[in-house]
Amino acid sequence: MNDTTDRRIIVALDFDDRGAAEALVARIGGACGFYKVGLELLTAAGPDLVRGLVDQGHEVFLDLKLFEIPNSVAGAVRAAGALGASVVSVHSMGGTGIMAAAVDAAREFPGLRVIALTVVTSMTGSDLADIGIGAGTDEQVLRLARLAAEAGCDGVVGSPREVGPLRKLLGPERLIVTPGVTLPGGEVGGHARSDTPWAAFAAGASHVVVGRSVTRAADPVAALRRIAVGR
Ligand code: C5P
Repeated sequence: MNDTTDRRIIVALDFDDRGAAEALVARIGGACGFYKVGLELLTAAGPDLVRGLVDQGHEVFLDLKLFEIPNSVAGAVRAAGALGASVVSVHSMGGTGIMAAAVDAAREFPGLRVIALTVVTSMTGSDLADIGIGAGTDEQVLRLARLAAEAGCDGVVGSPREVGPLRKLLGPERLIVTPGVTLPGGEVGGHARSDTPWAAFAAGASHVVVGRSVTRAADPVAALRRIAVGR
């Protein structure tokens, strides 16, 4: 890491193998100071991988997407805090009890922030109808974000399309962490509501999560620099 490392950019380590993840982190060196570790890598590699990243001075977003009884959520949040994670995620669809338990458990760890997922980006209005929710996705996202803020969460995860309304709702301080960003000319598919990292920042994202556009780039450091300088 160096003083110019842009910690608003979080690189998703979506690997099923510790060696591959660590090789990429070594290759990126000081160009990234914030990594996302999800259930795939955590399950495959174990918590030592997270400790290793923290020991190297990186911040870690542990994307656990917690949706459990409050007691179990609290335990998982404490475990994330003990590992040195900076951010942990919880599902707002689980309701206030789950989110409040997560926020309460995180108090022990001053560096740990709890962010809430609203409607996962793969869900459509018809998926919501299937589970008995009459609201459309946009309305449901804002409803859940409001609930997350009231429960004391430090922020939310929001797709590029949702960032603007979320920033308006949540005010200037809360985190809005935005995945689903791609670089122009990139070949990464599978993003229904994609936009560039720069559009996400302009709309109010505090952080962007970028995966394959960096991890599969011929030159990951160049891809990161491109994001940081804004073109
Ligand atoms: O697509 P990409 O490789 O950039 O994805 C990076 C991360 O962003 C993944 O870990 C995934 O969980 C998340 N993501 C998301 N919603 C999307 C696309 C990606 O939550 N629409």
